[in-house]
Amino acid sequence: MRVLAIETSCDETGVAVVEAEQVSNGVLRFETLGAALLSQAEKHAEFGGVYPTLAKREHIQNLPILLKQALDAVEQRNISFSDIDAVAVTSGPGLEPALWAGIEFAKDLAEKADKPLFPVNHMEGHVISSLVKDSQLDNTSFPILALLISGGHTELVLMREWFQYEKIGETLDDAAGEALDKIARMLGLPYPGGPHISRLAAIAGEAKKRGPFTLPRPMLKSNNCDFSFSGLKTAALYAIRDRGGVESMNERNIADFALELENAVVDVLVNKTRRALTQSNAKTFVIGGGVAASTRIRKELSALVNTEFVKTEMRLPELSITGDNAIMIAQAALARLTFNNWKLSAPPTPESIRARGRLSL
Ligand code: KG4
Ligand code: ZN
Repeated sequence: MRVLAIETSCDETGVAVVEAEQVSNGVLRFETLGAALLSQAEKHAEFGGVYPTLAKREHIQNLPILLKQALDAVEQRNISFSDIDAVAVTSGPGLEPALWAGIEFAKDLAEKADKPLFPVNHMEGHVISSLVKDSQLDNTSFPILALLISGGHTELVLMREWFQYEKIGETLDDAAGEALDKIARMLGLPYPGGPHISRLAAIAGEAKKRGPFTLPRPMLKSNNCDFSFSGLKTAALYAIRDRGGVESMNERNIADFALELENAVVDVLVNKTRRALTQSNAKTFVIGGGVAASTRIRKELSALVNTEFVKTEMRLPELSITGDNAIMIAQAALARLTFNNWKLSAPPTPESIRARGRLSL
């Protein structure tokens, strides 16, 4: 089965064609036949964050170009558009103007080509693609605990069977990535700031000397699996102000600050994950979302599982799919079409497919 997927929930435009074959009962093998991805991050950098109407305009402009690129790659394998079984599109969560750009494009494409169209939850895309190992989605042992960390989400979700989600913890305010991006901005770093924080923290970390900054670990001791990152943002603002503003901080100070920030985020993520793993008895633990690209976060969470939860299998997403992309949307649709009750012959009506900015799992 082959699915062409479109992703436009934030500032990445993605088009991908993925093939899936059920190689044995409960084991799905994926192959990406063609994929094109374009980040608008540089365009949004001057606004210090994603500017929804600009994102929408860019998606509209770039979708036809990316579609052609993806289909050209598919055709190189002697597979034509008519050999694709369905179209899938991210319907939420995300920025509604941006989501609509993808949805309108997908509806038009599906109608003209007479293909069924399926809406996909962006977060499910992160979960499913992160579970894929050696190109396969296998009959992973349930329950699966997923830590989703992105620019818009920070949540711990338990899946007891395919596509049955139970949220066991979430941020009460900002997402981890959002806090990293906002604090990075205070430090004069370009958007998106997460990767810059990681890079600078690694430089400071090599010095193995404790820096002069101390930031809080919000809700570290709270008796649940919820998170809060807005207090970290306020604390960062004051800490920078106390130093006389970012203008009076040198490169070394900024790197030390980045390290303390990363330490704070890591401490909270590790502690809440420990709590969630303990209470859920998860057999599999997976992380997903843009922040899952952080080397340090990957390392610390792996260490937690490998030392304290040796019976739990850890799945780490390949770095190429941690950020938003359309491959993950295609994989989620293919998984639903194989392991769930989605049917090519019975897609939802196009009118029912709408942008849902706050869609949850
Ligand atoms: O999943 P994603 O690409 O978009 C959303 O759905 O939000 O996640 C984007 C987030 C941004 O906050 C970005 O700063 C963060 O992921 N990020 C990182 C790294 N790469 C991206 N954070 C920490 N370390 C990284 N290497
Ligand atoms: Zn995402």
